[in-house]
This record gives sequence, structure tokens and C-alpha cells, in this order.
Amino acid sequence: MKNLLLLFIILFVSNVGNAQNEVTLNVDLAEHQISRHIYGHFSEHLGRCIYGGFYVGEDNKLIPHQKGMRTDVVQALKKLQIPNLRWPGGCFADTYHWKDGIGPKEKRPTIVNTWWGGITEDNSFGTHEFLELCKQLDTAPFISGNVGSGTVQELADWIQYTNASHESPMTKLRIENGQKEPWNVKYWGLGNEAWGCGGNMRAEYYADLYRQYATYLTAAAKGSDIYRIAAGGHSAYVEWTEVLMKNIPLKLMDGISLHHYSVLDWSEKGPSTEFTEAQYFKTMQKAMAMEDHIIAHSIIMDKYDPEKKVGLIVDEWGGWYEVEPETNPGFLFQQNTMRDAMIAGTTLNTFNNHCERVKMANLAQTINVLQAVILTDKEKMLLTPTYHVLDLYKVHQDAKLIPIHVKSGDYQLGDKTLKAISASASINEDGQVHISLVNIHASAAQEVRISVRGIEINTVSGRILTADKVQAHNTFKSPNTVQISNFDKAKLDGDELVVQLPAFSVVVLALK
Ligand code: AHR
Repeated sequence: MKNLLLLFIILFVSNVGNAQNEVTLNVDLAEHQISRHIYGHFSEHLGRCIYGGFYVGEDNKLIPHQKGMRTDVVQALKKLQIPNLRWPGGCFADTYHWKDGIGPKEKRPTIVNTWWGGITEDNSFGTHEFLELCKQLDTAPFISGNVGSGTVQELADWIQYTNASHESPMTKLRIENGQKEPWNVKYWGLGNEAWGCGGNMRAEYYADLYRQYATYLTAAAKGSDIYRIAAGGHSAYVEWTEVLMKNIPLKLMDGISLHHYSVLDWSEKGPSTEFTEAQYFKTMQKAMAMEDHIIAHSIIMDKYDPEKKVGLIVDEWGGWYEVEPETNPGFLFQQNTMRDAMIAGTTLNTFNNHCERVKMANLAQTINVLQAVILTDKEKMLLTPTYHVLDLYKVHQDAKLIPIHVKSGDYQLGDKTLKAISASASINEDGQVHISLVNIHASAAQEVRISVRGIEINTVSGRILTADKVQAHNTFKSPNTVQISNFDKAKLDGDELVVQLPAFSVVVLALK
């Protein structure tokens, strides 16, 4: 009896010691849908995102394409089931005049890309090409309108051109240019970063301007289903959100944007691959601050919109570092490592967990720019660690969020501490439960004990993304250094699931 008691005490104490990371899933409380649009992308006329990335021209003989769109890129993105694509910017959007990008290509005027590298573009990729790309990708287009240097009429004309089916000058022009049926574009951004590159406006001025643009956009879109997104604040800039929420009637606004980049310091962004652990830690502090920002902006939105009709649209997010050596500084071309996988995994968990307010998000940017999912070099293409995280997480698209409680151990560096574990979970239409887990710790594996309330679990399977070092990345010479593999370190232990997460790893488990 005495021995039995001793054994019980030993077991209890050892169990407490191991249980530094505990996750509880309340499957029976699943209610809100994780919009698939949280998994959206962003393609700006910036560096080699559009030209050379998506689009290589209809006459290209070296790179396989369909109507000028790279076949390899389209196939890779289709595998991710990308739900929407934002275009043409970014800062570029407020300099873009869409009528210069339609009609016969040889007659299109050029445009100087004043924000990004100062290069002259030939406008060969315009509205028709973008909407053709979205068709090939089977994704919803999200057009950012020009409020900074455009006109109300220009934006009203654009939506008539894309969405009207009745007889009108814009419908006539569209048909003349070869497109009979309207595309019915739903997602429209009204300006971008209006507090900065979009016009350096005051919030009060932009709110008034938004009301004007939204009025005529809505009128011109009559008969089509549109979703209007105001250019919101960034990071902790909640004052901007407050002024917009207070001054824009809810009937004119469906979403308000938020931009947040994980950047060490705007004056010293640090290298994309050869970073130190201190730089890694600081990047993760910035990435994990996303949750604080979402909460802060949501509190304000709740005040004016308690029914949560207006979506928080995080239409730019990701890591931002120094450009790769010997590349154009204006092109924002950077490599992508396991650090980026950590940013993606933790950020997407945050979006999932706040899906009641976060209705859409767009990773910046899809190809060859910032935290890209794809890098290209002429005819070569590679998939980055971030791509693989989006591949793992696509199971959450449109599934129901499972409310989750996470008790995490610490990742400590010097006197600073972060939570080592991030998680989110969902249940899909077929009753399949998925849990995404991230261990951001740079050197320590973590044991996580998971209890699942509300369903019985019989089997567990998983996939993992990790590597031999947090700086690991894929190159054109070695494109599969970082790739997904099967994961067998999740075991059922009575009613619990015990998972061994390696350092800097992303794991997605499927439970049945
Ligand atoms: O994504 C790069 C730039 O970052 C965008 O053009 C702008 O909106 C933001 O400042």
C-alpha cells in the first residue's frame, strides 16, 4: 500500500513536470467559421511579383505559361487553394490608373513605378490580365482602388467595367476589349495606407473621402454583390480605426484594414537568412504582437459595431528584412527561412482564433517580394517554408473554429519571455478535427498534452515542417531542404493526446 502511494506520488509529480504545455479543445463549443479568406494573398506591382513572377508575357517561349501566366506558379498556388488575391497594391494602387492597362497592349501608355524601384512598366498586365489570372487560380479577385491620386469617377467607372451587365459606356468598352460577361468582382479596397503612401491624410479627411468614394462605388455597382474595405490603420495605430468607425456609416463599409509587418526596426531590418537568435526572438515578438493589435482594434470596433458586421481585414502581414545582396533595394526581394514559417504558423493561429472579427487577411506578398510563398529565377521556381505552412493550414479554411485554451511554457532569451507554444483548432463539415501547433523555441523541444472535450478520439495522424536550423531555407540549387514530412510523435494516452514538438516546428494533426 505504501509502495503504491509512493508510485502514485512519483507519477503525479512527473506528470506535473511534463505538463508545462497544456492545450484544451472545446469541440462542443465550436460556433464561428474560420473564413477561408483569412488565407488570402497579395500581389503588388512591386519588383518581380507581377512581371517575372506571375506574368511572363503571352509571347514567352522559354517559360511555360497560359495566356502569359506562369503554369508552374498557377499550379503551386492552386494546391494552396488560395481564396483571394489582392491587386494592384499596396502603395502602387494609389498611383494606378486602370484605363491605362486595358485595350491593345501596343497602345497602352507606360507607367513609372514611383514607389518601387522607379522602373517604367508597360502596363501589359492590367485588369483583363489580373482577372484572367484569378480565373486560372480559381480565386476571388480583390481590387484596391486609387483614392490617393485617382478620382471618384475613375473608381465608379472601374466597377462598372468589371461588374455591369446592363448597357453602359463601360460595358461597351469591356465588350470591345474582348470580355462579354462581367467578372463580378466582390472585394474592393478604397485606397491603401491613406495615413502614409496613400496620401498622408488625416483620419478625419480620409473618413470623409471614403464616404464620398463608397457612395459612388456602391451606386455604380448596383445589382452586384460587393464588399467595401476602408484603408485602416497599422499595428497599434488604433486612433485611426476609432475615427473611421466613428465617422463612416456602417451601411457604407464592410471591412476595415489593418497592416502589421514583423520588422526588427525600420532603419535596420536585419538579414533574411544569417540572423542571430536575438534577431529571431525580436522578430517573433513582433509577429506575436499581432494578437495584441487585433484585440486593440477589435475593442474599438466592438464599441461602434457590437454585432461584428464590419470585418477586420489584415490585408498586409508578414516578415520584412533587408533585401538579398546585389538586388534592387526597391524590389524587396528576400529569402524565406524557418523563421518565416514560425511567423506564418503563429499568425495564422491568431487569425483563426479571432475569426469572429478577422474576416480576411493577405500575406505580403505572393511571389519574390517580402514573405513570399514562391521565389522564381527565370524558368526556375521554388516553394518557401511559408508556402508549406499554408499548405498544412489549408484544412482550416471555412471550418468551424474550436475554442481552445493554451497553457504554454516559456521561450526565454535574456530577460525577455515569449510563449513557446501557439495553437488553433477547427472542425470541418465531415466532423474531422485539425489542430495546428507551433513551437517557436529556437532550441528546446516541447511536450504538449492535449485534452479534447466533446468528441471521442480514436486515431491521430500528423504532418510536420521543421529543419536542422532555424535559418534553413530552400534555394534553387537545393529546393527541398525544408519540406513537409509525416509526423508520428503524437500518441493517445488515455483521454489525452501527447505530442512531442521539436524546436522551431509547425505540426498539423488530424483527429478522428
Ligand atoms: O507590401 C509592401 C508595401 O508595404 C505596400 O505597398 C504598402 O502598403 C506597405 O507599406
